[in-house]
Amino acid sequence: MDTFEEINAKGFADEYIDPALDLFDEIERLKKEKNAVVLAHYYQEPDIQDIADYIGDSLGLSQQAAKTDADIIVFAGVHFMAETAKILSPQKKVLLPDIKAGCSLADSCPPHLFRKFKEKYPDHLVITYVNCTAELKALSDIVCTSSNAVQIVESLPKDQKIIFGPDKNLGAYVAKKTGRDLVLWNGACMVHEIFSREKITRIRERYPQAKLLAHPECEEVILEMADYIGSTTGLLKYATKSSEKEFIVATESGILHQMQKDNPDKIFIPAPPNNQCACNDCPHMKRNTLEKLYLCMKNELPEITVPEHIIQQAVKPIERMLAISAQLGL
Ligand code: 13P
Ligand code: SF4
Repeated sequence: MDTFEEINAKGFADEYIDPALDLFDEIERLKKEKNAVVLAHYYQEPDIQDIADYIGDSLGLSQQAAKTDADIIVFAGVHFMAETAKILSPQKKVLLPDIKAGCSLADSCPPHLFRKFKEKYPDHLVITYVNCTAELKALSDIVCTSSNAVQIVESLPKDQKIIFGPDKNLGAYVAKKTGRDLVLWNGACMVHEIFSREKITRIRERYPQAKLLAHPECEEVILEMADYIGSTTGLLKYATKSSEKEFIVATESGILHQMQKDNPDKIFIPAPPNNQCACNDCPHMKRNTLEKLYLCMKNELPEITVPEHIIQQAVKPIERMLAISAQLGL
C-alpha cells in the first residue's frame, strides 16, 4: 500500500487491483463492513452513479451529508463538496476518491483576494455559491446552491445590499430573476462557459421539437435561449415530467446517464454535440474512477480534513442555507 504522503501527493492510491475482482461486489462489501455511505454527484462517471447510495445535486448531497448515520462518507464528487460534508459532519470520516478533484470555479475565487473585495463593501451581506473553498465559506453570511440561490436572495429584505460570488453567471441570473442589484465576483466554471450559441442553434435546426435545458452556470447568451433553467436535479426532474421527447442539455455530460436511465424512450443531446472534443466533461469530476473509489474505501484514504477554526465559521452560512431551504420545502 502507498503511504499517506504518497497518496496525498498523487491524489489517490495507485495500487495494483486484481482484474478478477468484481469492483461492484467489493464496494458493496466495504460499504457494509465499514458502515460507509457513497454519495455521488450527477457529473460522476456512470459506474459510480450506479453504485452510489444517493445521487444528487449540491443541495441534496449536503442534506444527505448532514443527516447520514454512516461512520464514513465516501464523496464521489469534487473537493468543495467533500469539504462541505466534513463541515456538516465533522465527527465522521469523509473520503474523496481523488483528492485532486478540484473545481475551476472554486479556483477562480482565492480567499485572500475575496477578503479584500469584501472590505470594499462593508455594509453588504455575502452570499456564496457552494462551489467554493471552505475558507471562502468562512468569509460568508449565507451559502447557496443553484437550486436555492433565487429563493435565498428573495428571503432577504429588498433593501439588503448583497455581494454574490464566486460565479458571475449564476449571480447575473439571480439578479435578473429577483430584480436585485448584486455585486458580483468575476468567477466562472470552465465547463459551463464552453457552450456555443451557434452550435446550439444548428442542433435546434436538426431537432426543432427539442427543449433546451440549461444550468444557471452557463453564460447569459445560452440562458436566454433555454426552455428551462435549473440545478442538475431540476433539469433531470423537468426532463422526466415533460411530455416532450427530445432535449438538448447544456451542462456537464454526466447528467445524461441518469436522464437516459430514467427516460429510456426520450432523446438527450449534449450541447455542444458529442464530437471529438470532450469539453463538456468536467476534468475535475472525471478524476474519480470506480478503481479509485474502491481503493479509497479499502485504504480509507485520501481523507478530507478541514481546520477546526474554519469549520466553526463555515458551518454557520451552510446551516443558514439548509434552514432556509427546509422552511421553503426545498
Ligand atoms: P448542481 O448539481 O448543484 O446543479 O451543481 C452543478 C455543479 O456544477 C457542481 O459542480
Ligand atoms: Fe467546478 Fe464546473 Fe466542474 Fe462543477 S462542472 S466541479 S463548477 S469545474
